[in-house]
Amino acid sequence: MIRIAPSILAADFARLGDGVAAATDGGADFMHCDIMDGSFVPAISYGHDLVATVKRHTEVPLDVHLMVVDPSAQVDLFAPLEPEIITFHLEAVDDPTPLIRKINRLGIKAGVSVKPGTPVEPLLELLPDLGLVLVMTVEPGAGGQSFMEDMMAKVKALAAAIREGGHDVMLQVDGGISAGTVAAAAAAGADTFVAGTAVFRHPDGVAAAITELRRLATSHA
Ligand code: DX5
Ligand code: ZN
Repeated sequence: MIRIAPSILAADFARLGDGVAAATDGGADFMHCDIMDGSFVPAISYGHDLVATVKRHTEVPLDVHLMVVDPSAQVDLFAPLEPEIITFHLEAVDDPTPLIRKINRLGIKAGVSVKPGTPVEPLLELLPDLGLVLVMTVEPGAGGQSFMEDMMAKVKALAAAIREGGHDVMLQVDGGISAGTVAAAAAAGADTFVAGTAVFRHPDGVAAAITELRRLATSHA
């Protein structure tokens, strides 16, 4: 199953309601919310108050991507919003297991993400407890960067481990996903595609962008 997760980071913040409505009407599977704290990554994006507002304007499940140095504290703030997924970075914690268990106890799917320089091997033993793994295909911290095709080896390794273990885990890619790159990620085994620029800045509009990404991913999966 192919899922498209528009990242509202690329929406026009002055017209955020219009962007959320367009992604909702366009068939988004998740609303991907990028939380940056100015420490784990240089930029500060937005926080749980803004995401609470987004939630009031869509039925689409929230996919919260924490790029923060203290993900456990943010889990406490986001949990009342009942997101479908909360993803944190492996690099931000000493031991991911307690935070995975905490997220699961809250009834939320736990996701763990790796930056481009981080191998996926530490994720393999975590798969039984995860709902999602995220392979970053750019350095986290900003939209509009170029897709790193050399990350596909990591996607393939995770796809094989998920398949062989029979795990119910989404395999997400994030960064530089567009009509020109989504096929490579789908062919490598990704099934959940975050796209900011390619969705919200598409010349034909948000719905057309989502439809195009879904079609290309499906035909190359
Ligand atoms: C990057 C974020 C991404 C970003 C993707 O740190 O995690 O979700 O919004 O933006 P595009 O699709 O423009 O690369
Ligand atoms: Zn993201």
